[in-house]
Amino acid sequence: MSAAESADLESSSPEIPESLDMRPWFIASRDIKGVINWSEFWGNDQPVEIDVGCGRGLFLFNASQEHPERNYVGIELDFKEGRRGAMRLLKRNTPNARVIGGDATILLGKQIKPHSVRAVHVYFPDPWWKRRHHKRRIFTDEFVNWCANIIEFGGELHHWTDVKEYFEVSSALMNHHALFDPLPTPEEREPTHNMDYQTSFERKKRRIGSTIHRGVWRRKDGSAAS
Ligand SMILES: C[S@@+](CC[C@H](N)C(=O)[O-])C[C@H]1O[C@@H](n2cnc3c(N)ncnc32)[C@H](O)[C@@H]1O
Repeated sequence: MSAAESADLESSSPEIPESLDMRPWFIASRDIKGVINWSEFWGNDQPVEIDVGCGRGLFLFNASQEHPERNYVGIELDFKEGRRGAMRLLKRNTPNARVIGGDATILLGKQIKPHSVRAVHVYFPDPWWKRRHHKRRIFTDEFVNWCANIIEFGGELHHWTDVKEYFEVSSALMNHHALFDPLPTPEEREPTHNMDYQTSFERKKRRIGSTIHRGVWRRKDGSAAS
């Protein structure tokens, strides 16, 4: 990533005008009707990975370059953030990464074909600190069931957060789910440069010395689920 690209991703650069059509790099979920046909969406049959709440898209940007043989789609509720992430992809003419602006719970629950996704990534989901707001958290029983439905057998769910109490709840949901097996905890890696982090939030939290909790789980195959 060039210095200019890195500055664009991380600075508070001006908002991208809504009138700018950024398709296919940014698509509003309201423009996607029914269940997504990934072959038509991408124009190929590469495996698809979803980044739930992709924010400014650092994961999409890095992973799509590291793995040109996979397709990455971020889902982001905040259009301003999602469009900033998509702008980087547009500028690079990235063929294998896109951002969908919209609510991941609707897309995962209703618009993604069963077992059509190789991996779901959930990095630093909003913590909703107050107990009475915990019900707004994305990582619920229902969310895990949607993930079990859309992830291929043998596919993975990756989840990182700095919020210990949130991780205790989300990892317990995953560890006790009949359709997932825990995999070894990913090790912490020393970044080699400013953009060498999984996500913008990982960088922000590591810089202030927070502990990052990391988990990955494998979707069991059909026979293991019965
Ligand atoms: C704390 S930020 C983390 C962003 C990014 N994953 C990272 O690690 O840098 C959480 C993001 O999730 C997005 N988000 C929250 N609820 C969402 C939902 N239901 N669907 C899609 N995105 C959502 C927020 O808008 C926000 O950008």
